Amino acid sequence: MADQQKQSYSQFRGQPRLPKFAIPRHYDLKLKPDLVACKFCGVVKISVDVVSDTKFLVLNAAELSINPKSVVFDANDKVVESVGVELCEEDEIAVVEFKESLPIGVGLLSMEFDGTLNDRMKGFYRSTYEHNAVKKNMAVTQFEPADARRCFPCWDEPARKATFKIALEVPSELVALSNMPIIEEKVDGDLKTVYYQESPIMSTYLVAVVVGLFDYVEDHTPDGILVRVYCQVGKASQGKFALDVAVKTLGLYKEYFEVPYSLPKLDMIAIPDFAAGAMENYGLVTYRETALLYDDKHSAAANKQRVAIVVAHELAHQWFGNLVTMEWWTHLWLNEGFATWVSYLAADSLFPEWQVWTQFLEQSTEGLRLDGLAESHPIEVDINHAGEIDEIFDAISYRKGASVIRMLQSYLGPECFQRALASYIKRYACSNAKTEDLWSVLQEESGEPVNKLMNSWTKQKGYPVVSVNLRDHILVFEQSQFLLSGSHGDGQWIIPITLICGSYDTRKSFLLQTKNDTLDVKEFLGGSSGRPWIKINVDQTSFFRVKYDDNLSAMLRAAIERKCLSTSDKYGILDDHFALSMACQQSLTSLLSLMTAYREEHDYTILSNLIGIAAKVLRIVSDAAPELLNDLKLFLINLFQYSAERLGWDPKQGESHLDAMLRGELLTALSVLGHEITLDEGKKRFHLFLKDRNTPALPPDLRRAVYVAVMQNVSKSNRSGYDSLLQVYRETDLSQEKTRILGSLASCPDPEIIREFLNFLFSSEVRSQDAVFGLSVSNEARETAWNWLQHNWDQICKTYGAGFLITRFISAIVSPFSSYEKAEEVEHYFASRMKPYIARTLKQSIERVHINAAWVRSIQSEKNLAETVRELAYRKY
Ligand code: BES
Ligand code: ZN
Repeated sequence: MADQQKQSYSQFRGQPRLPKFAIPRHYDLKLKPDLVACKFCGVVKISVDVVSDTKFLVLNAAELSINPKSVVFDANDKVVESVGVELCEEDEIAVVEFKESLPIGVGLLSMEFDGTLNDRMKGFYRSTYEHNAVKKNMAVTQFEPADARRCFPCWDEPARKATFKIALEVPSELVALSNMPIIEEKVDGDLKTVYYQESPIMSTYLVAVVVGLFDYVEDHTPDGILVRVYCQVGKASQGKFALDVAVKTLGLYKEYFEVPYSLPKLDMIAIPDFAAGAMENYGLVTYRETALLYDDKHSAAANKQRVAIVVAHELAHQWFGNLVTMEWWTHLWLNEGFATWVSYLAADSLFPEWQVWTQFLEQSTEGLRLDGLAESHPIEVDINHAGEIDEIFDAISYRKGASVIRMLQSYLGPECFQRALASYIKRYACSNAKTEDLWSVLQEESGEPVNKLMNSWTKQKGYPVVSVNLRDHILVFEQSQFLLSGSHGDGQWIIPITLICGSYDTRKSFLLQTKNDTLDVKEFLGGSSGRPWIKINVDQTSFFRVKYDDNLSAMLRAAIERKCLSTSDKYGILDDHFALSMACQQSLTSLLSLMTAYREEHDYTILSNLIGIAAKVLRIVSDAAPELLNDLKLFLINLFQYSAERLGWDPKQGESHLDAMLRGELLTALSVLGHEITLDEGKKRFHLFLKDRNTPALPPDLRRAVYVAVMQNVSKSNRSGYDSLLQVYRETDLSQEKTRILGSLASCPDPEIIREFLNFLFSSEVRSQDAVFGLSVSNEARETAWNWLQHNWDQICKTYGAGFLITRFISAIVSPFSSYEKAEEVEHYFASRMKPYIARTLKQSIERVHINAAWVRSIQSEKNLAETVRELAYRKY
């Protein structure tokens, strides 16, 4: 290539977005995958609207080779030949130069290309399965966020919407699916060419193709849309639950968005190797098996709920994301935050007994947890390179995003909110939108200053803690940015504040727009007969933490014990207190004391959070004051035993879904705490299970607890439990069972076993999508896991590099540490191994270690901690 030419190409390099002098309108795409050689070739013909004078077309391509001779531009019978195609792998672009300037207007750009069906679960990749004991490959696409370019040259940005007409040439015995229904199949010996209908206008990241052997179940919506669930041959019945959820959910969304589902069919398919949980490709939604298949006999209640939520989430994207698409990845949260929030709306409507809006609080908690870091990022985040996009599929985009939507809905009221959403969808259908576009529609509909209110939540990172003091009859509010490090940031928010005083009938609400404000509550405080309790952030609908003065705190605690508060409010008081303890703004002693107020709680979400908090407290105390560990365990056992005894081991006839999930979590917690009676019963049931996989002694909801119980006493010299579990792992072909076992094995306290287990995670017996489930190892094995990570880092990079799964290795293994020295060691180790796609996670994980270290110090200086723990451990209830 001549130097002069090279130079002209380089003007297009290092840019975050493609130049805008040509706009793709339509793609004619033909792909021919070779499932044996793991290669593919293809031809693409793109109708391009040239809008300004150019000799170049710049589009995306990566890991493809383009046949330079095949590249032509056909403009109204005038063919312009190309003089060269330069592929820049670093920028993932192809620069095509033509002999002369292209005529303004629409022309047809054609090219032939080929590539590899990779094993990295992105772009056009292969997944493996067994059919009649023979290993086979299937071909699958995963294009979000920016990997369509690994399958065919294209303008791979969400705002470059076009129509697609796809054809596949595949072995004739295989099922070949794409976004749209098949219009024609031409069989030619062993091969067939399958032609699909032209799609509506859509973004490249939503294009999809799957080729393999599958069975399916099907149903129709009342509107006649054909819905199918595809899965491994022989497992079709496991697709029925998701099918039912999908058909109903399409109906719900049609009503909610006031627009019907826009395609003639919807396929949902389980893929054995899949990096995310699921992907909302238009008309062809792909899933991990665990997120789509439900087995009546071997799936747990939690698995069922996961399937429903994931299906509802992906179908929400068919409107929010596919029909109306974010303009750029900065607005990814519009997709993910909304789909997350809407999925709860759908699940609540389909399964009211699951109380998913209470469970939604776990989403907010996770959002608050990540956003309490200085290394968090705003919901609307700058993206300057494709490599940065993967890392923002995080708790900020999903969970904080969903939480601020819930906050806004609750502020504007559900009816107004729904009307505005429906008009937003109609206004931007088949087009793209930015965050501010949504706010404008909501503002028009409600007459409220939505834009100003919400900018404070989406354009700056973090969130406030509101301190509340009662002085006489005046409530004094002060907001400052909450950071888990204990310091205060300088953010300020417009906060929808709600409060109740002594009863859910006495409410007040206002917007806290400044740093300080006061509210006269004389009318609520009544006469001399004691003051009523005051709860701020009623039902936890706003995204902030509350710090009450000592008197208000004491009154709330009494209100909890007198059962005056709603489940969500009880949850919020505990969760805020925990966060404030971790940030060293409230003592651990006071947290432990508050936890006792929840002993007789029945609610699943609260107890599940209490269990999570207990685990973190246990871990930090093991570093801060190991001598207190035994007493602390006794206290926690005592705390959980009340509910565990209430529920018993065996499922009760007709009991609730939530009790079934709760029982498993309580027994798991008691096992980890080393509660002997639970461990013995667990082992007993495990032996019955080993003799008979269908024994009623071990229903799916109990399995994790029992597996964890078995692993507590396993060691190198006493390894039969471990070996038996591995055997169950090898035997089962249910992915949910496999991941359940991996998670349980990780709980073994013996570092030697953990070392062996971590190596097993990297063996051919564990799909690389599943290894991440084994990374949350027992506290005792933290160091082992860290050594293992360093030892295997090169291989981890090779297998997971530049995908979001790799970040799990860092966060799961680094974050549990709690010393400044360890933080430094980790920093030092990664200094020479930095990559853009791990940068954010690494900083966040190290910040967590610092936070833990500060917490350890603060705990060590607590005067009466030992005394309190002892008192709690031996308290008689
Ligand atoms: N669009 C995402 C899938 C995705 C995630 C693509 C990360 C690229 C990178 C999909 O809609 C999604 O959010 N899936 C979730 C499941 C959902 C229920 C939260 C997932 O994969 O965990
Ligand atoms: Zn999503």
